[in-house]
Amino acid sequence: MKAHAPILVQSLVRLTATLAALATLGQADAAKIPDKVTFTEHVAPLLFENCSRCHRPGEVAPFSLLNFEDAKKRGKQIVEVTGTRFMPPWHADHGHVEYSNERRLTDDQIALLAAWHKQGMPEGNPAKLPAIPKFTEGWQLGKPDLIVKMPEPYEVSAEGRDIYWNFVLPLNLPEDKWVRAVEFRPSARKVVHHALYYLDTKGQARKFDELDPKPGYNGMKRSNGEFESLGGWAVGGEPLMLPPELAWRFPTNSDLVLQTHFHPSGKIEHETSTVGIYFATKPPSRKFTTLQLPPLFGRLSGLDIPAGATSYTLKDSFVTPIDLEAFSVTPHAHYLARTFLLTATLPDGKKQTLLKISNWDFNWQEDCAFKDRIRLPKGTLIESTITYDNSAGNPNNPSQPPKPVRWGPMTTDEMGAITLSVIPARDEQLAELRQSKRNHTIDLFIDRAQEDTRRRQQIQPMLALFDKNKNGKLDTEERPALRGFLEMSGMLKGLDDGF
Ligand code: HEC
Repeated sequence: MKAHAPILVQSLVRLTATLAALATLGQADAAKIPDKVTFTEHVAPLLFENCSRCHRPGEVAPFSLLNFEDAKKRGKQIVEVTGTRFMPPWHADHGHVEYSNERRLTDDQIALLAAWHKQGMPEGNPAKLPAIPKFTEGWQLGKPDLIVKMPEPYEVSAEGRDIYWNFVLPLNLPEDKWVRAVEFRPSARKVVHHALYYLDTKGQARKFDELDPKPGYNGMKRSNGEFESLGGWAVGGEPLMLPPELAWRFPTNSDLVLQTHFHPSGKIEHETSTVGIYFATKPPSRKFTTLQLPPLFGRLSGLDIPAGATSYTLKDSFVTPIDLEAFSVTPHAHYLARTFLLTATLPDGKKQTLLKISNWDFNWQEDCAFKDRIRLPKGTLIESTITYDNSAGNPNNPSQPPKPVRWGPMTTDEMGAITLSVIPARDEQLAELRQSKRNHTIDLFIDRAQEDTRRRQQIQPMLALFDKNKNGKLDTEERPALRGFLEMSGMLKGLDDGF
């Protein structure tokens, strides 16, 4: 994680830590801090509840926080990192909308840890020690109903460009199943940046695998558009269950396809991913889909960030054609992104923030699940804004000196999107939403084609045929005919493959 962050930032974090910890103490309610703070009575419950699920063997954190010795050894550091809110890690700004999976200590809890450290970190009465929570070794969501593993390890080279590789995991399901969660477990955490999951029900992926001598097959420049997308995992992410009324259908003959993105670490690594699958106990009663702004992770948004730009902005918007309920939101971008904002302006004019990130960290790409469903009635305007800092002053900039960055799959390229997971109020309206999403994507395609200087000769005369009022632009009224034509022409073939 922070292994990627430059030393300077780390020491700045540490430097500000103590000051911030002191400041936080000021905000805490002194009356709530007991005179004698002990590990067994006060600190252990807090750590078990907020820290141990990551700070235990085999999980993402670099050391365990499971007992008195663990905590005492790191006491000072614990005070620092909780004081700055560096731990527990959570990257969406607090106070705009409530998330059920937000990891956050209260001011009082932070003050309690500081008080314990100040009092010399006493252990206290062992009888007061609460039981360690029942974690399932090797899993976050508990014991999976089905565990599948890559049949053989994949060797990740020490050096070179990022690798996108597909792996086929046969599920051998004896009958059709409904699935509520997929938990991905990388074995070489240092080099696995993210993995996307797909379901192949036609045996195609197995054929691609056979053609490639290595385990799996090359995923670079290869779309997985023929497969059903099931979301994914990125560094730092904890898996989430779908809400109880939703599920994915896994037919008997399904294979799980993982598209894994590796970022070489300087040392040869071997990856054998394991995947846990959690079945639903009953068929879903509702349907769901995603709304991504901009669609295709920004592929059609003309992303082109000049070297040195400090706040390059990528915006998109969409008006929902049907009533929706949103249940989670997921940001995605690479190193240069700085801020994310997703807002919904309801038909009555009320504006709500669904996601705000003021300090993006590439190493923590996570789903934020809304505590209460967010109602987005028909006619709600949803707007996304992502800003990027491609200056030398951005400590996360992978290129020093900075160079122009465009859209692309490498971590040194950029992407950008905010994805809302939504449930249509009425199942039968899902098709209408899909059509609106498709129209929005085609409109972005048209916008880009109009700007495309390289293909001006071929494309622009054709687009001009649809500019009925000859104002040099393709207006809203002129677009439906053009979209229909493009759909028929075959020019949109593969437009949203792989997404
Ligand atoms: C979601 C998983 C997760 C949770 C929950 C979590 N941590 Fe961590 N923690 C990490 C990871 C990953 C690292 C390594 C981070 C890095 O180096 O950037 C880390 C690092 C640390 C460090 C070392 C920081 C440094 O500067 O090297 C401390 C101390 C720490 N955590 C304390 C805590 C405490 C205390 C809690 C609970 C209040 C907590 N963590 C909750 C994942 C977690």
